Amino acid sequence: MFDARVFSGVQPTGNLHLGNYLGAIKNWVGLQKDYETIYCIVDLHAITVPQDPESLKIATYEVAACLIASGIHVNNSILFNQSQVPQHAELAWLFNCVARLGWLNRMTQFKEKAGKNRENATVGLYAYPTLMAADILAYKATHVPVGDDQKQHLELTRDIATAFNSMFGESFFPLPKPIIQKTAARIMSLRDGKSKMSKSEESDFTRINLNDGDDLISQKIKKAKTDSEPLPDNIKALEERPEARNLVGIYAALTSQSEDKVLSEFSGGGFGKFKPLLAECLINEIAPIRNEMNKILNDKAELDRILLRGAVRASSIAKPILANCKKVIGFVQSVN
Ligand code: TRP
Repeated sequence: MFDARVFSGVQPTGNLHLGNYLGAIKNWVGLQKDYETIYCIVDLHAITVPQDPESLKIATYEVAACLIASGIHVNNSILFNQSQVPQHAELAWLFNCVARLGWLNRMTQFKEKAGKNRENATVGLYAYPTLMAADILAYKATHVPVGDDQKQHLELTRDIATAFNSMFGESFFPLPKPIIQKTAARIMSLRDGKSKMSKSEESDFTRINLNDGDDLISQKIKKAKTDSEPLPDNIKALEERPEARNLVGIYAALTSQSEDKVLSEFSGGGFGKFKPLLAECLINEIAPIRNEMNKILNDKAELDRILLRGAVRASSIAKPILANCKKVIGFVQSVN
């Protein structure tokens, strides 16, 4: 009954790095051939924590440019920033009146982000998952590529859809399914194989940014933490060597092969041989994206047009769905 439609979102915050690219963006590019795809730069989500206005604007352009440079085709995929499509916030309110405090209280991301000073967290940070549900369901998306950290939010989206359906009409909303990536997409810090690569880590040498120059990429890989053991011939043997495992995972994701396949090529060798090849692979992948991204960022007027066009297309899908929600809820709608 529902066509296969993908929705996903990315926050416009700070520099994009290899973790974002291999964990999400590269996957988004691939999904374009099998699905109708809607990709959203979620600026409404970003302001659940304080943002500097100028930085928010720059980050929004950067993320848009990066997605386009990576291969999101804006004539097929719908690409836009969330705040230009009012239906997201509107549907989120309706969902705030469906979701229960008990459900939101279970969200581990809120607990982590709010930390000890929960009283000082914004209401928006708490309600973040109902906005995410609205993002997805405003388009009746059937599939959502998400990382591990967002699985719980997608579960909540399904709970909200189920509750809405049982209140107002079975099969009103589809129950969106996660798309789990094949290749190991969890990219870890280059300095600590147990913590995720992150833009908020203090040292820049923990991550590869998508705008790093070629020499810097080589240097960062050269200095990446490893050990003195040779590489084994299977991934299980790397369980206790998280840094080594991470580098093998990056290589596997870049070359679209399994980690075991990579190890069958490199087993017995040390990092002295592996690292330069990894750096070369990284540069081959990132340099063209970086160059294209800079070109795109030089023409903000064109980016504005692209995002507006995306927003108009997105809105034309979300508008009738929202009107229908309002109708089944019982709102009087004088227009439409
Ligand atoms: N919460 C997601 C993140 O922080 C971003 C996001 C917002 C999203 N809305 C979404 C992801 C809808 C998938 C679908 O990464």
